[in-house]
Amino acid sequence: MKGVLLAGGTGSRLYPITYTGPKQLVPIANKPVLDYAIEDLREAGITEIGVVLGNKGRDAIQEHLGDGSAYDVEITYIVQGDPLGLAHAVGCARDFVGDDSFVVYLGDDLMRDGITDMVANFDSSEYSAGIGLQEVDEPSRYGIVEVNDSGDIVSLVEKPDDPPSNLALIGIYVFTPAIFEQIESLTPSWRGELEITDAIQGLLETGSRVQSHLVHGWWKDTGKPEDVLQANRLVLDNMDGQIEGDIQDGASVSGRVELQKNAVIEGGAVVRGPVSIGEGTRVCSDSYIGPYTSIGEQSIVDNVHIEASVTMGHNEIKTDSKIVDSLVGREACVKSSDSKPEGERITVGRNSTLEL
Ligand code: G1P
Repeated sequence: MKGVLLAGGTGSRLYPITYTGPKQLVPIANKPVLDYAIEDLREAGITEIGVVLGNKGRDAIQEHLGDGSAYDVEITYIVQGDPLGLAHAVGCARDFVGDDSFVVYLGDDLMRDGITDMVANFDSSEYSAGIGLQEVDEPSRYGIVEVNDSGDIVSLVEKPDDPPSNLALIGIYVFTPAIFEQIESLTPSWRGELEITDAIQGLLETGSRVQSHLVHGWWKDTGKPEDVLQANRLVLDNMDGQIEGDIQDGASVSGRVELQKNAVIEGGAVVRGPVSIGEGTRVCSDSYIGPYTSIGEQSIVDNVHIEASVTMGHNEIKTDSKIVDSLVGREACVKSSDSKPEGERITVGRNSTLEL
C-alpha cells in the first residue's frame, strides 16, 4: 500500500505564523508536525509516500523532507498548486497510486496511536474506503458521519449546521482507486472546494460500502494557534525526555525534559517538565520554564517566566513579563525595555494577536 500525505493549503487559520512557512512545518515539541505523519505511515509499513504540495511553502517542505531517506521512506512529490480542496489534492495523486489501495493522511494531523490498526483492519474486498473517526465536541467544525450498527458509514456531511452525530472524520482515509471516479464528478462546495467528504458520499450513493474505524487515542488537527498549543501539550505528555545538552551546576531541572544538542541551562535557571528545549538554545540563569513548553532551537531565553507555550526557533526572549499560552513565530523577538518614555513598543505584523 502507498501513502499520500497532503501538505498543501494556505494555513490561513494559523496566520501570522503561516505567512512565512507552511503549517505542516510548525514544530510540535521541536519536531515539524509533518514528521509525525511520516513516522506513522512508516510504522504502518508504508514506505512509498507521495507528498502533495500546494503553492505555499513548497520549497521548504521539499528541502525539509528531501528524498525521504532520512526517514527510511521513499518520497515522490506531487504538485497540486492552488488549494482547490482535499478531493482535488487526492485526485492529483492518481498516477502515483496506480491500481492499489492507498492511505491518505492530512499533513497537519497528529495522532497518539498512529494508523497501524486502521490500515491493518481495512478490508478492500468488502469496502471501497475506510475512514478514521473520533467523537468531537464541536461537530460543525468537521466532516461528520452517521454509522449503522455493523460499523458501516451510511452518510457524510462536511461542516454541518445541524450535525447528525458527533463522529468526525479525523483526516485519515484508506481508499481503493474507486474514489478517483467520484472525485472527477465533484462540483465545488459552499466553501469553493472539492470536498473529499462529498467524494466518499458519492461512493455510498453508487452502492459501495465504507468502513468506519474509531480512533481511541487522542487526535489533534493543528489548524489554529490554540490547537498547536494543545498538540504540544499532548505530545509533551507522552515524551520520555532526554538530555543531550548541558545542565550547569545550580540549575534546577525536574520532570521530563528534552534538552537537545548544544543547548544549555545555566545555573540558577529553573525548568519544570514536561519541556522540550531545541538545539543550541541558551536558558539564562534567571529564567523559569514551566510545564508544557517547547522552546525552539538557536534561541536565547533570559530573565523570562514562560509556560504552556511554543517558541518556534531563532528567538530572543528577554522579558520580565510572564509569558503563558503563547505561540511565538520563528525569529520573533520579545524583550523588555527601560528606555523613556515608558510603555510597550510594538512592531506587530498583520493578523498578530497581543494580549498585554
Ligand atoms: C478537513 C476535512 C474534514 C475533517 C477535518 C479534520 O477539514 O474537510 O472533513 O473533519 O479536515 O481535521 P478542514 O481542515 O479543511 O477544515
